[in-house]
Amino acid sequence: MTILVLGGAGYIGSHTVYELIDNGYDVVIADNLETGYKAAVHPKARFYQGDIRNRDFIDSVFDQEKIDGVIHFAANSLVGESMTKPLKYYDNNLCGTKVLLESMVAHDIKYIVFSSTAATYGEPERIPIMEEDRTYPTNCYGETKLSMEKMFKWTSLAHGMKFVSLRYFNACGAHKSGQIGEAHNPESHLIPLILQVPNGKRPEISIFGDDYDTKDGTCIRDYIHVTDLSQAHILAMEYLVKGGDNAIFNLGNGVGFTVNEVIETARKVTGHPIPAKVCPRRAGDPAQLIASSQKARDILGWKPQYDDLETIISSAWNWHKNHPNGFDK
Ligand code: UFG
Repeated sequence: MTILVLGGAGYIGSHTVYELIDNGYDVVIADNLETGYKAAVHPKARFYQGDIRNRDFIDSVFDQEKIDGVIHFAANSLVGESMTKPLKYYDNNLCGTKVLLESMVAHDIKYIVFSSTAATYGEPERIPIMEEDRTYPTNCYGETKLSMEKMFKWTSLAHGMKFVSLRYFNACGAHKSGQIGEAHNPESHLIPLILQVPNGKRPEISIFGDDYDTKDGTCIRDYIHVTDLSQAHILAMEYLVKGGDNAIFNLGNGVGFTVNEVIETARKVTGHPIPAKVCPRRAGDPAQLIASSQKARDILGWKPQYDDLETIISSAWNWHKNHPNGFDK
């Protein structure tokens, strides 16, 4: 079976390609390399450089390859940036997906698994968050992902294509091979930022607020290993191919850790004191985000393997200590 991975040179996309290839799939990657890295492309995947907003490009990939299903990661995904450049997010995330879907309809491609986000919920009504809970995004990134989900729903109704939307919580960690890991430029995510301290790239980590209504005052998040996320994409594709109906699944461990707990665990893993400084809250951060992933466990048979924070941070550190500049030379 041949899977087209859009955004397969990015963080979660590249890890999913590694898992697909390990599971015997034939993989084609399309990526514009705007935020992805050529070095993250698996050597056994066929790589096409281009942009999903370009209809000729995406048509040419479907014309040259016999694609059975699409896994779609190609999007901008920085919450803060989405608030200052909302139209960039509408253009890439929504317009890009519209062009992709037009091309998929024209080429009669039936299955798509799509990366969505906990940011579709906004401030949660209850913990843990269930898939049927209110979706009221508090940032433009989450809004575009929610709109993408709706675009799939209506396209499916009209054209018969089937989709699974996977709402990730906090993706983290790195591949066991040590070949690929998490890299953003500039770095924006908590765990890679913390690991820049023992790597000598920053003197301390900032804690964005310690006056939240949580056990130690810092924000609580549900950290889920990128390899577990990758497995869920494969299970979701298999579910669709077996005749499964359109569905949305949360992907998290169901356990929350505070920012302080993450820093403390990183100190233990790295053996470095990792100085931390309390700073003002970051705008738009909910106090607590924890997933119920019971639906993915029940329907997809998904079972996260990396369910403790020390193992997750160790896997991230295994990559970061050998790649202090990420994929940059
Ligand atoms: N944080 C700090 N200091 C930092 C960076 C982050 O204290 O230097 C805190 C944040 O305030 C937050 C937590 O660490 O409480 C995690 O922050 P990240 O930026 O790593 O992740 P977010 O929870 O903000 O965002 C993640 C994904 C988004 C997704 C969102 C869903 O990165 O793509 O979860 O809510 F949209």
